[in-house]
Amino acid sequence: MNNLAELEMSIGVIAAEGRAAIEKAGSPDECEQLRVALLGRKGRVTTLFAEMRNFSDGDRPKAGLLLNQLRGQLESQLEAKGTELSSARLQDQLIAEGIDVTLPGRPAHLGHLHIITQTLREIYAIFQQMGYQIVQTPEVETDEMNFQLLNFPPDHPAREMQSTFLTKQEGVILRTHTSPGQIRVMRENCPEPVRAILPGKCYRYEQITPRSEIQFEQVEGIAVGEQITMADLKGVLTEFARQMFGDATKIKLRGSYFPFTEPSIEVDVTCILCKGKGCRICKGSGWLEILGSGMVHPVVLKNGGYDPEKYSGFAFGMGPARIAMLKYQIEDIRLLLGNDLRFLKQF
Ligand code: DAH
Repeated sequence: MNNLAELEMSIGVIAAEGRAAIEKAGSPDECEQLRVALLGRKGRVTTLFAEMRNFSDGDRPKAGLLLNQLRGQLESQLEAKGTELSSARLQDQLIAEGIDVTLPGRPAHLGHLHIITQTLREIYAIFQQMGYQIVQTPEVETDEMNFQLLNFPPDHPAREMQSTFLTKQEGVILRTHTSPGQIRVMRENCPEPVRAILPGKCYRYEQITPRSEIQFEQVEGIAVGEQITMADLKGVLTEFARQMFGDATKIKLRGSYFPFTEPSIEVDVTCILCKGKGCRICKGSGWLEILGSGMVHPVVLKNGGYDPEKYSGFAFGMGPARIAMLKYQIEDIRLLLGNDLRFLKQF
């Protein structure tokens, strides 16, 4: 090629075809291919530039001008298309990878207190209101504290009621009840009067059944002073039963035996299910046993440091597991320590 007319025609064709192809490009990759095909080393425009050497000296500047215009035009079209495509791609990507902040989040599951802890706290609240302090006493005790000072002499048959975990150390055991705490709080407070509840874990070497575990909580209560009578005991426990099981609850005291109380009683409450009419839970009697109690035995008062001629007191001991089981009608004590969330979540 060596004349401007022919060059202009070729430029017209390349400009038209180039523009159409650029318009149609669907991706930055396609744009790049077009750039190579048009402006690359062997591209159509570059090839035309090579024709310039055939032009006369007079026409060559014009030819150069026209070709430069063509190249500039195509370059800016490619660039515009490239930007358009990559911003469209970014847009698509943002949509595809976008997070919908309006979606509700995953709910965080909050735990809650174990049913026994809840029951313990209810018991604490009731007695605190009545002026009782809460005192912690040791789980590892001596035989002397757990039994002898509570008026169980070494071969006393009442020890049979509480099979004991021994330790390798002679005379050191896991407490079988919270009652040894009575001796401790009496000794700490004597000769001042005392009103305290003593919660904590106890252990018995027994068969595990639906009604008894080898490890369980107890709450002991003790009140010692100069004028304390059984009427006080009855009043305190009536109030406790009403607050724990409802205003209409009545209590009944039944004679019983514990070595550390005289007289000893067991306390029943009107059945929380049938309200006393008789049902499956109370086995038709209308009453449910909830705790053991009595007037502190003179020997025990003396072991606590008080003169039994001058002082008297009452004591009681209850199992929060039994109370929770009655309140929520749980039939098997093993569920309480079984850690099955399906069970625990209900409370
Ligand atoms: N310690 C007794 C037991 O574990 C319960 C008990 C009965 C505690 C009478 C007392 C009480 O304080 O007066 O079986």
